[in-house]
Amino acid sequence: MGRCSWVPEPAQSNDIKAMLDLWRSIPGLGLGWGDEEDRLQVFLARNPSTCQVLKDGARVIGTILGGYDGRRGYVYHLAVHPDYRRRGCGTALVKKVTEEFTKLGVKKIHLFVFGTNEAAIKFYQCTGWLLRGDIKVFTRDTDETEKGCGC
Ligand SMILES: CC(C)(COP(=O)(O)OP(=O)(O)OC[C@H]1O[C@@H](n2cnc3c(N)ncnc32)[C@H](O)[C@@H]1OP(=O)(O)O)[C@@H](O)C(=O)NCCC(=O)NCCS
Repeated sequence: MGRCSWVPEPAQSNDIKAMLDLWRSIPGLGLGWGDEEDRLQVFLARNPSTCQVLKDGARVIGTILGGYDGRRGYVYHLAVHPDYRRRGCGTALVKKVTEEFTKLGVKKIHLFVFGTNEAAIKFYQCTGWLLRGDIKVFTRDTDETEKGCGC
């Protein structure tokens, strides 16, 4: 760790295409609703200090999206280009966003990782994150009709 010589900078609208290209090239990074360009513009505008990129020259080599909802911080799409991994870049991005969340008054940050994403799970475990065993994630689409009790 600690060999990352690139400094995180706030993601700008005109970085979005390169961010999407990076994400699409990485298996295991789940893209879904919210990852369209117009939705990402909204996310960046709402979270200007907690969405950061790492650039090697003009090339986007790392990303992190932090979202603050007024209560918790949420991290999405931490990604480092395969050629730049294991040099502390992921750690640098998380550190920067944690600092920015702290400035906003955030005390706790959550993130979601697919259970099959062993590298990411190792990364988070090795960098001080707590793997919660006491929480299950429930999800639903807003256009779903009420179904009542599905038990
Ligand atoms: C997860 C990811 C962002 C880590 O980026 P990185 O720049 O390689 O991370 P760092 O160099 O800061 O790693 C810090 C420490 O985490 C651990 N770690 C990172 N990747 C690891 C891996 N593949 N296997 C085991 N441990 C790992 C190591 O302890 C590492 O320190 P070390 O290199 O001195 O041993 C990167 O692997 C990635 O982009 N993965 C694909 C995208 C993804 O799955 N993102 C998470 C979505 S939730």
